[in-house]
Amino acid sequence: MTMPSTLISIADLQARRQAWDSDGAKVAFVPTMGALHQGHLSLVKQARNLADRVIVSIFVNPTQFGPGEDLSKYPRTLSADLELLARENVEAVFLPSDATMYPDGFQTYVHGKGMALQLEGSSRKHHFEGVLTVVLKLFNLVQPHVAIFGKKDYQQWRLIEQMVADLNLPIKIIGGETLRDSDGLAMSSRNRYLSEGERQLAPFIYQGLLAAKAGFAAGERSPEVLIASCRNVIEQHQDFVVDYIELRQRRNLLPCGTSVAEASVMLVAVRLGTTRLIDNMEMD
Ligand code: PAF
Repeated sequence: MTMPSTLISIADLQARRQAWDSDGAKVAFVPTMGALHQGHLSLVKQARNLADRVIVSIFVNPTQFGPGEDLSKYPRTLSADLELLARENVEAVFLPSDATMYPDGFQTYVHGKGMALQLEGSSRKHHFEGVLTVVLKLFNLVQPHVAIFGKKDYQQWRLIEQMVADLNLPIKIIGGETLRDSDGLAMSSRNRYLSEGERQLAPFIYQGLLAAKAGFAAGERSPEVLIASCRNVIEQHQDFVVDYIELRQRRNLLPCGTSVAEASVMLVAVRLGTTRLIDNMEMD
């Protein structure tokens, strides 16, 4: 097992990137904040199948965390992450510092409108500004041909597709399917915050989404009814505090109107104790 090269500075990254260009290599990129799990690794496997070289970034991006969010306690598991990436034959891992990404005087941000201001963007005010800014910077530095994002963060994935289209970036964006534990809980680095009791309850988010999907499959097209069927399952358990449960058009994440006529997705955000969890399911 060969450990991936760890590239710390922008100069290291650029030198490696130029060498790959000279080889005519196709480059796939998986941006992460570390604390890797099988969900991330499935994105890396997809990357492996799409390109000659795979590069992963690990950077806990401070600008996408709001005041009082979990930046300081976000899990950091670098040596385990590097071993997992070695097993997937990842060639390089970019590990920039905060000062590398946001040097003194940094002041330019990507501010999405429309789709960026709703759902997660409404609950977490500057979240997507931080995400889009860091992803654009990473794209400019890594210059990948293709980049893979998990559909677990559905809105993030759609916003990045939109940014790439709007700003004419020559990068193909791929959405990787959500991986779930055997009881249906979507894999997430934040699941490790859950107490044992909360971990037992967390799969009811998936059960709620399945209830809505079953309703849809049976012909129900009222967003209100479909949302209520998901909500009823989740709210049976008083420990959940629902932030939102929404049925949106997949294309633009706008509400579906009074009857679902287009490809849609149900998106859920809840709090369980001090942990905020999100999940989603495409209705088809
Ligand atoms: O999904 C994540 O882990 C982060 O939001 C990302 C895309 C790596 C940007 O920091």
